[in-house]
Amino acid sequence: MDPHRHGARQPERFDPKKAAALDDPSRFDYLPVPEILSLLDIPREGLWVDFGAGTGAYARAIARSRPDAAVVALDEQPAMLDLLKAALDRERLANIKPVLSGPRELASLRGRADRVLALNVFHEIADASLEDLASLLKTGGKAVFIDWNASVDRPVGPPKDHVFSAAEGRLRLERSGWSILAQSAFPYHYALVAARPADASAAPRPRRDP
Ligand SMILES: C[S@@+](CC[C@H](N)C(=O)[O-])C[C@H]1O[C@@H](n2cnc3c(N)ncnc32)[C@H](O)[C@@H]1O
Repeated sequence: MDPHRHGARQPERFDPKKAAALDDPSRFDYLPVPEILSLLDIPREGLWVDFGAGTGAYARAIARSRPDAAVVALDEQPAMLDLLKAALDRERLANIKPVLSGPRELASLRGRADRVLALNVFHEIADASLEDLASLLKTGGKAVFIDWNASVDRPVGPPKDHVFSAAEGRLRLERSGWSILAQSAFPYHYALVAARPADASAAPRPRRDP
């Protein structure tokens, strides 16, 4: 495995050729927006980050439901950001900002987010990216990790050996200093609401760019 992916369970980056699956409307049946909104519990006029937003299927749906809150839709792949921007050209949502994730962008967001959503991305991100994610949160901020459950037989989603079980996901977060505030389940996913590690807003340790 690429050393820059240390800690990730999925060996490769998400393939933008599979992006259409992210806009499959059946996702909203097994991962309903109202339930995600309830887990996120975004404060009034708060700032939240969709970490690994992809095409923004959920960032856009949540932005529509919560016009008072601002969302930074962050993705590391320009091809994914282009798809998100094309969707925003059609929908014209004022409260969503697409951002290509890089050291400068992450630094400018550090310590500012009330909430971070990591939807279907926890199994893809390296430990170093998990630190970046934590650094975006304000003191008292929370992240919601919702990811494919390796313990569940599913007709959709990545292979079981590319994702974590709820217990493995929880352990990974706890080992990185997160406090788990709540755990719940969707038909194919687990959800973990977590408070950021105490030292998360400290400057990230230097590392080489991939
Ligand atoms: C499986 S897709 C999920 C997209 C979206 N969260 C959803 O559920 O519709 C994962 C996305 O996360 C992005 N991603 C993976 N690692 C990332 C990182 N470290 N920082 C930002 N984006 C990342 C990928 O480029 C991809 O677009």
